[in-house]
Amino acid sequence: MNHPGASDIKAMAWTAVGLGKPHESAALHVLGQATYTDDIPELRGTLHAALGLSSKPHANITAMDLDAVRAAPGVVAVYTAQDIPGTNDCGPIIHDDPILSAGKVEYVGQPIFIVVADTHDNARRAARRASVTYEELPAILTPQAAKAAQSYVLPPMRLQRGDYQAAFEQAPRTVKGTLYVGGQEQFYLEGQIAYAIPQEQNGMQVLCSTQHPSEMQHVVAHALGVHSHNVQVECRRMGGGFGGKESQSALWCAAAAIAAKKSGRPVKLRADRDDDMLVTGKRHCFYYEYEVGYGDDGKIIAAKVDMVSRAGYSADLSGPVATRAVCHFDNTYYLSDVDIRAACGKTNTQSNTAFRGFGGPQGAIAIEYIIDEIARDLGQDAYDIRRLNFYGKDERNVTPYGQVIVDNVIAELTAELEQSSEYRARREAVAAYNATSPLLKKGLALTPLKFGIAFNVTHLNQAGALVHVYVDGSVLVNHGGTEMGQGINTKVLQVVAHELGLDMEHVRITATDTSKVANTSATAASTGADLNGKAAQDAARQIRERLAAYAVKLYGGDTAEVLFFDNKIHVNGHTVPFPELVQKAYLARVQLWSDGFYATPHLHWDPKTMNGHPFSYYAYGAAVSEVVVDTLTGEWKLLRADALYDAGQSLNPAIDIGQVEGAFIQGMGWLTTEQLWWNEGGKLMTHAPSTYKIPGVSDCPEDFRVRLFENRNVEDSIHRSKAVGEPPLLLPFSVFFAIRDAISSVGGHKVNPPLNAPATSEEILKAIAAVEAAVK
Ligand code: MTE
Ligand code: HPA
Ligand code: MOS
Repeated sequence: MNHPGASDIKAMAWTAVGLGKPHESAALHVLGQATYTDDIPELRGTLHAALGLSSKPHANITAMDLDAVRAAPGVVAVYTAQDIPGTNDCGPIIHDDPILSAGKVEYVGQPIFIVVADTHDNARRAARRASVTYEELPAILTPQAAKAAQSYVLPPMRLQRGDYQAAFEQAPRTVKGTLYVGGQEQFYLEGQIAYAIPQEQNGMQVLCSTQHPSEMQHVVAHALGVHSHNVQVECRRMGGGFGGKESQSALWCAAAAIAAKKSGRPVKLRADRDDDMLVTGKRHCFYYEYEVGYGDDGKIIAAKVDMVSRAGYSADLSGPVATRAVCHFDNTYYLSDVDIRAACGKTNTQSNTAFRGFGGPQGAIAIEYIIDEIARDLGQDAYDIRRLNFYGKDERNVTPYGQVIVDNVIAELTAELEQSSEYRARREAVAAYNATSPLLKKGLALTPLKFGIAFNVTHLNQAGALVHVYVDGSVLVNHGGTEMGQGINTKVLQVVAHELGLDMEHVRITATDTSKVANTSATAASTGADLNGKAAQDAARQIRERLAAYAVKLYGGDTAEVLFFDNKIHVNGHTVPFPELVQKAYLARVQLWSDGFYATPHLHWDPKTMNGHPFSYYAYGAAVSEVVVDTLTGEWKLLRADALYDAGQSLNPAIDIGQVEGAFIQGMGWLTTEQLWWNEGGKLMTHAPSTYKIPGVSDCPEDFRVRLFENRNVEDSIHRSKAVGEPPLLLPFSVFFAIRDAISSVGGHKVNPPLNAPATSEEILKAIAAVEAAVK
C-alpha cells in the first residue's frame, strides 16, 4: 500500500470518533441481557436487608422495641447505630449525615435500623414491626419557613458585581416578585442497591449502583473502621442515576456493608420504590425573591435575586448546588450590576442532592422568568428581550463571577433556531388561532441556555484510566467513569479505538472498579466523557507511541510517521496487522498496557468572593416549544418542540441527540407534572408513580426536531467535543414559558400570570383565574 497523504489519513483515521454508533450495551438493554447489580448471581448464604424508617419529621427517640422485628419469620439479625463498627456517617462533604439515627430523627423516612432476613420480602415485612416511641420536636418543612427561621445547613452565599442599589435606583422601570420552583425525584428505573460480600483479612467487596465508586469505598471504609484498601467497589452499569447516585448511594452501600460485616455473610440491600423515594434526596426546590431594574428598551440594568433552596436535614451536596445556581442565574445574559444571594434552607425533609443540572436549571429559570415579565410589561416578544440582553462577544462578555466568555455562539445559535423553527411565522399563527379560539389557547416560547462545564469544586476535575492490550491484539479499557445509560463507555471506547486505529469491536470496556483506577471523581457535572475520554486517550497514546517506536525498530522510518488505522500499523511502506505487531512487541518485552491521567487545566475558584474561572468552557443551546392549553381543565399538550444543542464536535451524534431528547423530556416533567407533596406531618405522600407523574411516551411531542449545532470546542477538550449530559435539561424552559404565554393570552397578554413550577393543571387553572381577575 502506498503511504497515504495527510488528507487520506484524516479520513481514514476518523473511523471511530465522531460517528453515530449505537450505545455499547444497546443490544443487551433491548434483549434484557444487560447485567445490573440485582442480576448478579447471588452467593450461597446471601441475606437480604431492609431499613426501618422514622415516621416523624423531627423527634427524639425515647424508646425502641425491636423484639417483634427479631421474631419475624426469616429474620437473622437487627442492627442499630450502636452496631456500626466505625463512623456513623455517610455525608459526602460535611459529616452531618448519620447512616442510622442515633437517637434523633430529622425527617420522615430516616433510617433507624437494618434488618437482615432470608428473603427480601421477609426483611421488608419485619422492618414494619418495630415499635418506636418519639418525643416530637418542632419541624421546618419548607424553604420559606427555613428562611424565616434562619435555619440553614451552611452559611448563606452572596455574589455581587458593580453597584446593584445605585443602578436599580436609576433604572426607569422595575419588576419585582417571588417565584417557587419545585423539586424533582430522580426516578432512575433501577432503584438504589448494594450487595456487600465479606472478603478475607477485613476485606469487603461492594457491588452497587453508584455514580461514585470511590466515595462509596471511603464511606464503607469509615463505617467499617478499616482502610480504603480493604474495600473494593464495583459498578458495571446503572439503570439511571441522574445525580441521585452521586452521593446518596452511600447510605445503601454502608448499610449493606455493616450488615455483611456483622453477620459475616453476603448482604444485599435493594430499595423498594416507595422506600427509595421516602429515604433519598431529590432536586432542590427553590424559592426566589427578585427585584430587577431595566430600561425602556428592556435592557436589564440591575438585578437582585435572593434564593433559598430546600436542602433537607443535612448538607449533602447542597453547597455546590447553590454555588452552581448562583453561577447560572445569568444564563445567557450580561448582567452588569448584580446582587445574587443563595441559602440552603435546613428543613425536616429528605436531604436533597444532585439532579441533572445540579442547581444550574434552578439558577437560570429565575432570570428567564424575570425576562418573561419584562417582555410582557413592555408588550414585546420575550425572545426579543432575550436577544437584547445576550452576552456580547468582545464586550459585555464577563460573567458576574469573573469568567470571560470566549466562545459565545448564542446569537448565531438562536438565530439559526429562529429560522429553522419558523418562530416568527408561528408566533403570528398562534395569535391568529387564539383570536378565534375562546377555550383552547396556544402558546409559544424560545428559550436559550448556557451551561458551565466542569465540577465547580476544582480538584474534582481529574480522571484516570487503564488500557490493556493483550497478546492477541484485543484491548481492554477501564476508566474511572460510570455508565448510567448516558453512553460514556461507548464514547471512551470510540476514543481508544480511534487512538489505536482499531474498529470498536476490538475494544472492550469493563466495570468501574476502585481496585483498578483509584481516587476517581463522581461521574457527574457532565464531565464523564470529557475527563475519562482524555485519561483513556492518554493511556492509549502511550501504548501507541511504544508500538510505533518498536515498529520503527523493526521496519525503519520515523516514529512520527507511523500510522494506526484500519486495524493495521503503517510504517515505512510496510503494513502490519495490529495483532501481529502486538505479538512481536510482546516477545520483545514492550509494555503493552498503560495508565492514563487527565486534569482539566486553567480552573480556579475562590469560594469566599465567588470569583474565578470555575468552568472549562460553556455549552449552549436553545429550544422552541408550542403548546395548547385547555383553559377549562388546565390540561395541555406539547404540539411541537425544536431543539438545537451545541455539542461541539460531537464524539457520537446519535448518543448526543438521545441525551438532548431525554433531558428535554425529563426537564419538561420537572416543570409541569412532577409534583412532590409532603403532608402536614412532614411525610412525602408522592412516593410512587401512582401519585408522582413523570412524563410518558404519550407526553412526548409528535413533532420533535432535535439537532446539533455545528461547532468545535475552542478549548482543547476530547476531540473538541462538548459535554451533553445535563445542559439540555434547560431546554424545556420553553415548554414552561409557552404554557405561561398561552395563559397570558387569556388576558390579552396584558398581565403577567403568576405561575410557579411545576405548572400542573391545578397551577395552570389558578394562574388563569388570576389573569381573569386582574383584567376584569
Ligand atoms: N443519561 C442517562 N441515560 N442516565 C443518567 O442517569 N445522568 C445525567 C446525564 N445523562 C444520566 C444521563 C447526569 S445528571 C449527568 S451529570 C451526566 O449524564 C453524567 O454523565 P456524563 O458526564 O458522562 O455525561
Ligand atoms: N456537579 C456535580 N457534582 C458536583 C459538582 C457539580 O458541579 N460540584 C461538586 N460536585
Ligand atoms: Mo449529574 S446531577 O452532575 O450527576
